[in-house]
Amino acid sequence: MNTGITIALSKGRILQEAIPLFAGAGIELAEDPDESRKLIIPSTDPQVRFLVIRASDVPTYVTWGAADVGIAGKDVLLEQEGLDLYEPLDLRIGLCRMSVAEPAALAATDAPQRWERVRIATKYPHITRDYFHGRGVQTEIIKLYGSMELAPLVGLADRIVDLVSSGRTLRENGLVEVEEIMPISSRLVVNRAAMKLKRRAIEQLITQLEAQVSHEPS
Ligand code: PRP
Repeated sequence: MNTGITIALSKGRILQEAIPLFAGAGIELAEDPDESRKLIIPSTDPQVRFLVIRASDVPTYVTWGAADVGIAGKDVLLEQEGLDLYEPLDLRIGLCRMSVAEPAALAATDAPQRWERVRIATKYPHITRDYFHGRGVQTEIIKLYGSMELAPLVGLADRIVDLVSSGRTLRENGLVEVEEIMPISSRLVVNRAAMKLKRRAIEQLITQLEAQVSHEPS
């Protein structure tokens, strides 16, 4: 039986913040995936390897068992419906928030509590629909795959729902945050069958990573 652990994660900020957590757990990546084109990266632990994939593909690899474990943002996990994953640990990396934003000129006179119908561009149509439905606001949702901040500037939508970290992208495009929908962080997710078949190794990994998680207030 294959007893090794395959871990799926995405390039960029999540990867760069995850590397020190794994290092603290005694697992070093054999090379920096941000510098390499390899999609499978071995580690210094012969029992652990990494798959470097698109953030939104991480739940798919873990659900199907192609990876035993993954790191995925709460945004990605909430947006994809029908996932059946074990989510044992908030890694407190990739910290940001999901917010509604709009042009500063609109915000000057806007009153969110009086919204009845909004036209929103977003990569997160399910989260957006659920959020506004909960507020009793009708939505027209325009699904985009990135650079949502452009949509209100060219009349594609009035507002956007997107992740905000430093706020720089909103600022540089003349948008302001008008409502926070939820805080976001990256989570460790585990395939349910792997959790049974490789319990000892995966529990050890969870415990080691948990010891590395920062509990500093964000
Ligand atoms: C994310 C998000 C915003 C930006 C926010 O985009 O969609 O555009 O970061 O960060 P800031 O508040 O620090 O400016 P990302 O760069 O991940 O690319 P994406 O458009 O492909 O999601």
